[in-house]
Amino acid sequence: MGISRKNFFIGSVAAVATIGLKAADSAGTGGKRKMMQGFDETDAGKISKVPWKPFSDRKVRVGIAGEGVCNFGSAFAYQTHPNAEVVAVTDLNPAKCALLQERTGAKKTYSSCEEMIKNAAADRLEAIYIATDAPSHARLAILALEYGLHVASAVPAIFGKDQLELVPKIVEAAKKSGRLYMMNETTAFRPQCFAMRRIFEAGAMGAHVYTEGEYFHYWGEKGISSYNGWRHGLPPQYYCTHSNGFYTCTTHGSFTEVTCIGIKSDLPDFKDAANVYGNPYGSEVALFKTSDGGAARMAVVWGVPGYGCEMGRVHGSKGSYAAKTGAYWYSGRENELFAKLDILKPQLPPGVPAGQHGGSHAYLTDDFLRGILIPGHKMCVDLKTALDTTVAGIFAHMSAMKDGETLKIPQV
Ligand SMILES: NC(=O)c1ccc[n+]([C@@H]2O[C@H](COP(=O)([O-])OP(=O)(O)OC[C@H]3O[C@@H](n4cnc5c(N)ncnc54)[C@H](O)[C@@H]3O)[C@@H](O)[C@H]2O)c1
Repeated sequence: MGISRKNFFIGSVAAVATIGLKAADSAGTGGKRKMMQGFDETDAGKISKVPWKPFSDRKVRVGIAGEGVCNFGSAFAYQTHPNAEVVAVTDLNPAKCALLQERTGAKKTYSSCEEMIKNAAADRLEAIYIATDAPSHARLAILALEYGLHVASAVPAIFGKDQLELVPKIVEAAKKSGRLYMMNETTAFRPQCFAMRRIFEAGAMGAHVYTEGEYFHYWGEKGISSYNGWRHGLPPQYYCTHSNGFYTCTTHGSFTEVTCIGIKSDLPDFKDAANVYGNPYGSEVALFKTSDGGAARMAVVWGVPGYGCEMGRVHGSKGSYAAKTGAYWYSGRENELFAKLDILKPQLPPGVPAGQHGGSHAYLTDDFLRGILIPGHKMCVDLKTALDTTVAGIFAHMSAMKDGETLKIPQV
């Protein structure tokens, strides 16, 4: 990976995480929806009939950080997966920390993620799962890599333009330590994306032509709660992974250029850009050039009520996997390669629930553990794909702020 610091250093404004902002209704629907969007999507899709096969008799010793609004620390099945042992947990909020301990059965707790990382050797930790607030991911991931831990991080890998300078640092930390980094992009193990990846990787879709992805999540009058208010006024394309992931997690290509349209919103979070990001946009629609010579349209829409989704479709020179009459279908069925494919998600170990966001959570954890335990195993959302997915959205927002100016995206 050849990234220069110069390419990525954009400004030196203080990290957003340090700025206290408002908290609001956790459902983000002005109090109407009972559950945060995505958490009701526990259907993992049709699962392969091939029984699960154990792949190692070893348990990876894991520490988990963060049990915030989304309870994400405990939602990724580390406590039930046969190849993991949750050794320690942490959350700055003692009540949340206690809850995370209760839910995972960890014997030890720490008052902060930093403390847990610094004690990793004494606890014989091998890996950490970072489910803290989005602005803290990159900093904590770099620290954990420097302490010799494998890292799985909630999305996004990098948060906003002020963190672009951390891109070469995280690449360097991973290289120096030889440890794995993975981003838990839930799109990767949604049934549609899993199927598209299998079809694409087998060559049955042909060359990539065009992908559409969209993440609709209505912000509501009250916004969505978050630690230190990082979601207040959040530029939509800073949270681009659930749309961009349909391209990157299918093809493992990258975005090379972007022009993006920002649509202003009168919702309180965005009105008059009165937020720490100076962001007036409740929705942003990006048009990307892709590294394979194709194109992608990726929409992140907070400003439209009554419709929520994380969806995408990939079109290739031999066929399309796309939504038609409410269901996904593949238009290249006559293609010989397709006939040989199993496009269903594999079984998980017995007793491991798939989790939410299209039944993706435990599959991500399983992929991470395989990365650690099986030599040569290629994780779907490794560091390169994590950065390719995330950095493009940061440039998309920058383009929107410049009235759609076309920007080149640095390559990892
Ligand atoms: N589909 C998805 O992939 C998806 C869905 C929801 C949330 N997420 C991601 O999951 C993460 C968690 O979301 P959330 O809504 O629960 O976040 P949040 O902001 O509500 O909570 C973050 C938690 O991390 C804790 N924390 C912060 N810094 C810490 C530190 N240094 N040490 C220990 N604890 C620390 C805070 O006390 C807080 O409880 C976010 O990054 C979010 O982007 C992803």
